[in-house]
Amino acid sequence: MPLASASSVLERTAPLYNRVSRFIPAFEWPAYADDIDAILRLKKERNAVILAHNYQTPEIFHCVSDLVGDSLALARMAQDSDADVIVLAGVHFMAETAKLLNPTRMVLISDTNAGCSLAESITAADVRALRLKHPGVPVVTYVNTSAAVKAESDMCCTSGNALAVVESLGVPKVIMIPDEYLAQNIAKQTDVEIITWAGHCEVHERFTPNDVRDMRDAYPGVVVLAHPECPPNVVAESDFAGSTAAMIKYVADNRPQKVVLLTECSMSDNVAVQYPELDFVRPCNLCPHMKRITLGNLRHSLETLTHEVLIDPSVAEPARRAVERMLAVR
Ligand code: 13P
Ligand code: SF4
Repeated sequence: MPLASASSVLERTAPLYNRVSRFIPAFEWPAYADDIDAILRLKKERNAVILAHNYQTPEIFHCVSDLVGDSLALARMAQDSDADVIVLAGVHFMAETAKLLNPTRMVLISDTNAGCSLAESITAADVRALRLKHPGVPVVTYVNTSAAVKAESDMCCTSGNALAVVESLGVPKVIMIPDEYLAQNIAKQTDVEIITWAGHCEVHERFTPNDVRDMRDAYPGVVVLAHPECPPNVVAESDFAGSTAAMIKYVADNRPQKVVLLTECSMSDNVAVQYPELDFVRPCNLCPHMKRITLGNLRHSLETLTHEVLIDPSVAEPARRAVERMLAVR
């Protein structure tokens, strides 16, 4: 790129750099600025929006995204979007959910290999077998699943509404798939009997109760917030458990001076941008799937309109019903 143009890119992106300067060294910024500038231009040209999950890196989350949130918020935003193109900066099941809820829009994901260990843990055939084993018991399916699995389900849930969804069915027993720990954590809060499946999030299953105790010893007074995909014995040692959006709300409402978020690493970085006065202790685990999304592939995605998410109509229709039933629960 000619020098004059490089310097104008740096000028245009300077206000964005101010947001993320605590996480990106100044000497590295020129490498980000060119992609950011191009993405902002391409979004206008394509009438596109970028919806980003809370686990996206700060340069994606704070510099190119139009809307950010947890899985539930992203689903609602996708449903309401009137952009021609929705780029999902997150993992594949999130892009599929966006497509289910807004089938006439073009939905893109910039790396089709951005998967999820939970989504990988169960197939549509597994759900049919569970139904045969437990006749008449409704199936509540975490959104972290393929559209094919959603299509076999009565209703979806996210970590933000799982308890409300389970109780909305008004039945004594439900099958809750595929996250065993989320199901066990919800079971502790309700009288509804919950049949689980042995799927786990490879990021959250790595936290242990000892990690929490060690943090409390090393950082006296630290407030520990856990995602409900963590094992129940980790949640039991924590001060609060909730979805990524619920953790952000906890920080906003309580402003804990020292806080640790037992979840994916970018969460703390993204929240710390908003609350520079708080001390975020950072033992965390990286999600390799979320980290497949980069500025470079987002730019490529908008340049080439790849990779489009398409869902077979015979799967999409029942899967959409399960997601829409979830969204109707308040
Ligand atoms: P939420 O943002 O819905 O809490 O989900 C966490 C997660 O692991 C998504 O992959
Ligand atoms: Fe899946 Fe866990 Fe990564 Fe979320 S953090 S996408 S649940 S592997």
